[in-house]
Amino acid sequence: MRNVFRNTVYFIFISCGVLAAQSSTQLLSSQTEVKIDSIIKLMTLEEKLGQLNQIGGTWYDTKTERLNEEQTAMLKAGEIGSFLGITGAAETGRIQRIAVEQSRMKIPVLFGYDIIHGYSTITPIPLAEACSWNPDLVEQSAHVAAIEGSAIGVHWTYAPMVDIARDPRWGRIAEGSGEDPYLGSVMAAARVRGFQGKNILEYGSLLACVKHFAAYGGAEAGRDYNTVDFSERTLREIYLPPYKAAIDAGAWTVMSAFNEIGGVPSSASSWLMTDLLRDEWNFKGLVVSDYTAIMELMNHRIAKDSTEAGIVGLSSGVEIDMVSRIYLRKLSEAVRSKKLSQEIVDEAVRRVLRVKFVYGLFDDPYRNAKPEKEKELLLKKEHRVVAREMAQHSIVLLKNEKDILPLKKSTKTIALIGPLAGNENRSDLVGAWAWARNPNDVVSVIQGIKAKVSSSIKIVYDKGCEIESDSGARIKQAVKIAKQADVIVAVLGESQHVSGEAASKSNLDLPSTQKELLKALKKTGKPIVLVLMNGRPLTLEWESENIPAIVEAWHLGVEAGNAIADVLFGDVNPSGKLTVSFPRNVGQIPVYYNHKSTGRPYNPKDKYTSQFLDVPNSPLYPFGFGLSYTTFSYSNVTVSSAAIKKGQSVTILVDVENSGNRAGEEVVQLYLRDDFATVTRPVKELKGFKKISLNPGEKKTVEFTITQDQLAFYNLEMKKVVEPGTFTVYVGGNSVDCKEAVFEVVD
Ligand code: BGC
Repeated sequence: MRNVFRNTVYFIFISCGVLAAQSSTQLLSSQTEVKIDSIIKLMTLEEKLGQLNQIGGTWYDTKTERLNEEQTAMLKAGEIGSFLGITGAAETGRIQRIAVEQSRMKIPVLFGYDIIHGYSTITPIPLAEACSWNPDLVEQSAHVAAIEGSAIGVHWTYAPMVDIARDPRWGRIAEGSGEDPYLGSVMAAARVRGFQGKNILEYGSLLACVKHFAAYGGAEAGRDYNTVDFSERTLREIYLPPYKAAIDAGAWTVMSAFNEIGGVPSSASSWLMTDLLRDEWNFKGLVVSDYTAIMELMNHRIAKDSTEAGIVGLSSGVEIDMVSRIYLRKLSEAVRSKKLSQEIVDEAVRRVLRVKFVYGLFDDPYRNAKPEKEKELLLKKEHRVVAREMAQHSIVLLKNEKDILPLKKSTKTIALIGPLAGNENRSDLVGAWAWARNPNDVVSVIQGIKAKVSSSIKIVYDKGCEIESDSGARIKQAVKIAKQADVIVAVLGESQHVSGEAASKSNLDLPSTQKELLKALKKTGKPIVLVLMNGRPLTLEWESENIPAIVEAWHLGVEAGNAIADVLFGDVNPSGKLTVSFPRNVGQIPVYYNHKSTGRPYNPKDKYTSQFLDVPNSPLYPFGFGLSYTTFSYSNVTVSSAAIKKGQSVTILVDVENSGNRAGEEVVQLYLRDDFATVTRPVKELKGFKKISLNPGEKKTVEFTITQDQLAFYNLEMKKVVEPGTFTVYVGGNSVDCKEAVFEVVD
């Protein structure tokens, strides 16, 4: 009798429908909080821990029933609050019905999944998308992913990954935006806006999950899951800004990282999860652990058994235990024996329920359970249009000697050579984290080129070798075929499984047989265009010295072949710029543009300065670098006033002219150096950028406003301050070739 009454009370709350059509901020009204409290009061401890328990499903199959008997029983008992990896609108709907109709509390479940760069319409890997320096397009691309994620019945994507990465040995560099905190913050916010949409209650929006909090990209030696050890200064200046930007953009969930930082595993860090996230940044949503990260606290050896792991994880502020089942199995006893307080459990449940309210699940638990939408929305024509445009903008032209590119449509024969050129390895073109990849959906380079050029151009093709292990036996034949052509397009690079998670590498050269193939092609004396497909910066010293044209195409997604053909034939003028430095060799790593001066800055005339004996300090291709089929010249960098008072902003103007003979887009970049300060500051830091289009001969004046916040840094007391003194402004088309100006901040 008591239970029936409880359910009735609860049902009055959830069925009143007042939550529809309210914005997320309104959803945090005190009324909602009262409802959440009233639900919590009705829950047993086991049901509460159920809300904090996420279990994993099978990943690939979208058709059959995905819960086994045990899982179904757990769901009915209220022991599951969310699922990972269950997709398919019919199946998620079926499972939701069990939760809502057959569990005592009738609380809807959340379905989470990794939609990192598209579901069926796979867009470029995030690192490539960042190279567009086009946040509007990146937002659109994320929104397409959210629409398709909704279509497969999911509520929550485990993206954006916003980890700053300065080490290309780390395979997960592919999933983020590169090495810069400012650019990374802009992209993080754009992705959150794209995933969550204008109104999160509208169909086609997903909950975003900012990951991996924190500094997972700082793994020592780039070895995945490895130790991280940074000062608070490095964290605050370099690694934390993108997470903060994503939260400020409204992200409702955060994922705690696998790694430790300075002796404290992130998933057990109350400094990160509570002091910083909740108290300092005012985050109201929930934190989910990374996969088994709660259990791994035992491997970190800060918990000697699973109960201790669960207590420390939850107490630090990680609300949901992804797949370890430790919270569910171990924490009721911990509460009963007073090792864990009931308040901590209640606060965690409150956050989980709040996110479910915010996403409208109490109002409509079946909001994404619309099987007819799968057919209508997946790989929709309009989505492919976005994917193609995104891919065009992601391509970075690294070298173009004697204007070998764009290829002339009057060329007679083109030899397309390499394991990534044809139709065989199409699934590699989409890169890591694309579970729903279907090679038949991917446009290969040969298909893209054939669709572009008239039949008057003959295309000859040979694979040349496999992507990885290969004896090199086919090279001779490929060279023979290449000799028939006027120009060789060699499409080489990495397979999808060597980037992403658990894909660290100590050798960043092209796989050896591919390099052999390229050297053999070079011997033909024919002009060669090298198109690279990869998930990380590669070491390309030989290529940059010997191959006249190099196109960094990354893993570009389902429209790869079309976008590459658009660029190769000049229908699109490339405008991407690197968001990560390309090292000359692995020994230089980490190499990044915003380094410190050191006490002995490099001086070629003095051996006892900071340098290597066998390689320059500079990267092969610097941050911000990328060529176009036209050229741009920069002049007249002016500062609105030579001296500003603390608290004031300053305006920087620069004239940019298209000095070539094709229309093109340029990413105008603004860097700043605080010339002298009480703590050391980077040699330069990106503080703004604008992507502009210019016709041949056209000149535009580009304006940047630098606010006090952009001049500020953390002083010795870790307070953000602006110190008086001079600042040097650098403006240019990459982080090295810049025009300068100076202004002063006075007290
Ligand atoms: C990865 C996360 C991912 C999670 C769930 C983990 O192994 O580190 O990025 O979201 O699995 O798939």
